[in-house]
Amino acid sequence: MKLWGGRFTKATDKNVEAFNASIQFDCRMYAEDICGSIAHATMLARQGIISDEDKDAIVNGLKQIFEQIEHDEFEFSIELEDIHMNIEKRLTDTIGEAGKRLHTGRSRNDQVALDTHLYLRREIADVAGLLIQLQQSIVKAAEKYSDVIMPGYTHLQRAQPILFSHHLMAYFSMLSRDFEHLQFAWNMADRMPLGAGALAGTTYPLDQPYVADVLHFGKLYDNSMDAVSDRDYIIAFLEFAAVLMMHLSRLSEEFILWSSSEFKFIELDDSHCTGSSIMPQKKNPDICELVRGKTGRFYGHLMAVLTMMKGIPMAYDKDMQEDKEGVFDAIDNLKFALTIYAAMIDKMTVNGKHMRDVLEKDFSNATDMADYLAKKGLPFREAHAVVGRAVHYCIEHGKVLQQLSLEELQAMSPLFEEDIHHYLDIETCVAQRRTYNGTAPESVARQIASGKTVVTGEEEQLHSWNSVVSSVYELIK
Ligand code: ARG
Repeated sequence: MKLWGGRFTKATDKNVEAFNASIQFDCRMYAEDICGSIAHATMLARQGIISDEDKDAIVNGLKQIFEQIEHDEFEFSIELEDIHMNIEKRLTDTIGEAGKRLHTGRSRNDQVALDTHLYLRREIADVAGLLIQLQQSIVKAAEKYSDVIMPGYTHLQRAQPILFSHHLMAYFSMLSRDFEHLQFAWNMADRMPLGAGALAGTTYPLDQPYVADVLHFGKLYDNSMDAVSDRDYIIAFLEFAAVLMMHLSRLSEEFILWSSSEFKFIELDDSHCTGSSIMPQKKNPDICELVRGKTGRFYGHLMAVLTMMKGIPMAYDKDMQEDKEGVFDAIDNLKFALTIYAAMIDKMTVNGKHMRDVLEKDFSNATDMADYLAKKGLPFREAHAVVGRAVHYCIEHGKVLQQLSLEELQAMSPLFEEDIHHYLDIETCVAQRRTYNGTAPESVARQIASGKTVVTGEEEQLHSWNSVVSSVYELIK
């Protein structure tokens, strides 16, 4: 018999049952469902809505169920549709009458909202820890390779020399914004929906601030209809995840290019690559390709929830059950990607000598040559033209700019003097770019120092999130 079977005279069609059920995936929220029910039952007893004996039976029964699920001794049933009814049914089977009082003043609509809020907060804290680890790996590598100079690119054509650590720290900056995004997602998830009931609130004198307190929520929903039908916190998390994956996908693309024989800038550790079943020489960056490839499904998950929500009339509609699988999939894949990327950066080797050789043989210092002339009074546009002609001359004569003799240079512009060769040095090119966000060693050192401060702030945030999350799960102990 279904928990809602009273008004029905026929059994549910088997296909309907299977299609309607969410237990296959929402079973992962069992701890949240149990914590939420413990908080709810405790409040019901405090308000005199159920007796203390019933409350004790409920709490003990729920803790027992938690243990059974943890130890794989709980068989989830499709007939019972979702995690909420699987647990409630087992509770009633175990403790009898009292179990039937748990759902007083509550609907599955506010219950599922509560569970996903709790679940997402927990996962946000987990993901935050991994994101910080990746940022730390980037900072470590930026420090380790602080003297490596590489070609910087625009249009994937060599542009100007940069510090390898400057390139890495660009990703650090992206990830710091991702962390801000995550803080936003937390704030959205940090609202307590119980008390909304099915949609209109309930007739019982519930103490919602107390429940929020027990579950360490910062805020309540002001409107019961919004409380049961808000999925903005899920969208916020999926937005965070989509943008973060976009960043990791860009990094993947660079790692793939850099580790190719054409670039040879880095080598990924054997433990992070795979081989070919036919070509014995191959060492493939599959993980980077997968991260790049999986980014598409993250966009898909975001788009799916946005689209699912756009036509839903107030309040809860079953469409909303579709909010979970994408988030779960995003969380699982994100955790893998972040964990592997931190290790991959820790273990990669960087071929600084080769990057240097590449730079010695190209024209990445051409802008510096134009700047040299402009600083001697030639309008920059004219300086640009002179150097353009110099580059053309070099290509014709199989040379690079720093190989031109002073005579050759002075034939192009009388402003060239002995010191030009110093200004064409790759080191000088990098050292001269001292703007606040530039690639000069002192600018990058400042980025690294401020990056460490950012990480410290993030760690404080993580610490406070972790203490919220662990206080909630104390309820089951
Ligand atoms: N399994 C449902 C979900 O994930 C729970 C809420 C169902 N509520 C309802 N009235 N059918 O959304």
